[in-house]
Amino acid sequence: MCGIVGAIADRDVVPVLIEGLKRLEYRGYDSAGIAIVAEEAVRRVRRTGRVAEMEAAAGAEDFHASLGIGHTRWATHGGVTEGNAHPHISHGELALVHNGIIENHEQQRERLLALGYTFESQTDTEVIAHLIHHYQSQGHDLLVALQHAVKELDGAYAIAVISKRDPQRMVCARMGCPLLVGLGEGENFVASDVSAIVSATRRVIFLEEGDTAELTREQVRVFDASGAEIPRDVHVSDVSLASLELGPYRHFMQKEIHEQPRAIADTIEAIIDRNSFVSAMFGENAEDIFRDIEAVQILACGTSYYAGLTARYWIEAIAGLPCAVDIASEYRYRQVVANPKQLIVTISQSGETLDTMEALKYAKSLGQQRTLSICNVPESAIPRASELVFYTRAGAEIGVASTKAFTTQLVALFVLTCTLAKLHGRLDAEQEAEMLEALRHLPGSVQHALNLEPQIVAWSERFAPKQHALFLGRGVHYPIALEGALKLKEISYIHAEAYPAGELKHGPLALVDAAMPVVVIAPNDKLLEKVKSNIQEVRARGGEMFVFTDQDSHFSESEGVHVIRTPRHVGVLSPIVHAIPVQLLAYHAALARGTDVDKPRNLAKSVTVE
Ligand code: AGP
Repeated sequence: MCGIVGAIADRDVVPVLIEGLKRLEYRGYDSAGIAIVAEEAVRRVRRTGRVAEMEAAAGAEDFHASLGIGHTRWATHGGVTEGNAHPHISHGELALVHNGIIENHEQQRERLLALGYTFESQTDTEVIAHLIHHYQSQGHDLLVALQHAVKELDGAYAIAVISKRDPQRMVCARMGCPLLVGLGEGENFVASDVSAIVSATRRVIFLEEGDTAELTREQVRVFDASGAEIPRDVHVSDVSLASLELGPYRHFMQKEIHEQPRAIADTIEAIIDRNSFVSAMFGENAEDIFRDIEAVQILACGTSYYAGLTARYWIEAIAGLPCAVDIASEYRYRQVVANPKQLIVTISQSGETLDTMEALKYAKSLGQQRTLSICNVPESAIPRASELVFYTRAGAEIGVASTKAFTTQLVALFVLTCTLAKLHGRLDAEQEAEMLEALRHLPGSVQHALNLEPQIVAWSERFAPKQHALFLGRGVHYPIALEGALKLKEISYIHAEAYPAGELKHGPLALVDAAMPVVVIAPNDKLLEKVKSNIQEVRARGGEMFVFTDQDSHFSESEGVHVIRTPRHVGVLSPIVHAIPVQLLAYHAALARGTDVDKPRNLAKSVTVE
């Protein structure tokens, strides 16, 4: 969603701000802007649409300065207009960018109106600019004015502020939304995501909840929620520039689909090296916690939720533990029956998803303190709020549609399953060796599935003109059908639904006719014969079938039944391999329809609002 970048330096920071905003584009946005302090004035340029349009406007207006802030906005309060785009300015003196939502903005607006402030936008953000200006006008310096103002805000925020009254510094604050400070040589930066500043510096301080900070060229000072100055650890980010560049690919989604063998190999590297499922990979206390738990509760959203649904089949069958999986936005408002002996597992690529974070907080508030985060972004909010952590090593995922994050989440969940099974006496040495062997072969099997791309391209051309599609699967492959339908709808805008194949006759069969393509995930597992019967039900109604199956399933092509064979059945890891063809199908259908694959309409990469 929204992105922030800011810089104070001895050089012109405008190119730094523009590059930073371009690196934040992947998060999803609908307008962009920058503000600078130059020659004792605050200047601003904003545009709806792409950063490139705003960049051209800044060029035309000859924007140069050594202090500035920038923002990409994903509209929540107020429509997509230039007037609602950030930065927001108070009294021509102070400019501010904000991520998050201010819940008490209406009360603050009333109060500020009474104080004589006028409003130019419909946003919740503008009240913050005026509040800080109000405290500055009472004689406080910029930092103290910010600290007073944030005490009056309810909601979530990451804020960066500059003022012409104080042109030698920038101040920032964080509560509920990520914000970090980048440390350079004689220059310093602020950003909501390390990718925005990685070409300037890799040394970063992740601000904690309630922190404020003051940046000059030479110095960064951080203050905790009580206002006391506090030292915070400096981290060196290992985000690779290559993972942020497109390289020879047409889209990040295409690149990320093809990176999956490498991403999986990196994620399992430590396990393969040790040749054992070792609980220490999840954290220091993992062994004690894993031994003691009696059940697992998974919380996640979107694709990460489907990873959780897949894992339920593994955790119950292999580890023998009851496992519940909930959509985080539902769980957080349900009257949950708490079980302190339950392991709470959150799954999140970004580690920032607000609903998942709030569900975790709610679970903990009920006395469920054993928490594990499976996440792809080191030091993000959700792993920081969890006792145990397993980082997937997919590398930066830029495409809005999650691909390599999903398959590496599945790998992480499989490793969790085997580790739990071992500690609960359900995995002997021989079985452990079998599971490790299956994992070792997984990157190769995924590569074989990627090699099916030309056949899938041919299928996608038949999909592109369709309005609707059905996806079917059974057992552990049902969540892969759900994921295939989500991928297709989010990037190609074809309406797609997924059902467990056995459920078809209870309603959705009524939708089937010659215009409805039906994708079936049907590998050679114990439910294959059942799926074959379900396919006959569809064929009998004239539906056209597109079946992904594996080499040893003896599935034959016939009129209206098209078959693509994935590699030989890879046993328990089959859902991971079958995620690949549904990703490719969605990607190529979207290409054929000419949609914006990496930035589908209305969607954002990190969903940091409710
Ligand atoms: C997946 O293609 C989507 N972009 C979306 O469903 C995503 O998985 C969801 O928003 C959860 O995000 P997270 O993994 O970063 O928490």
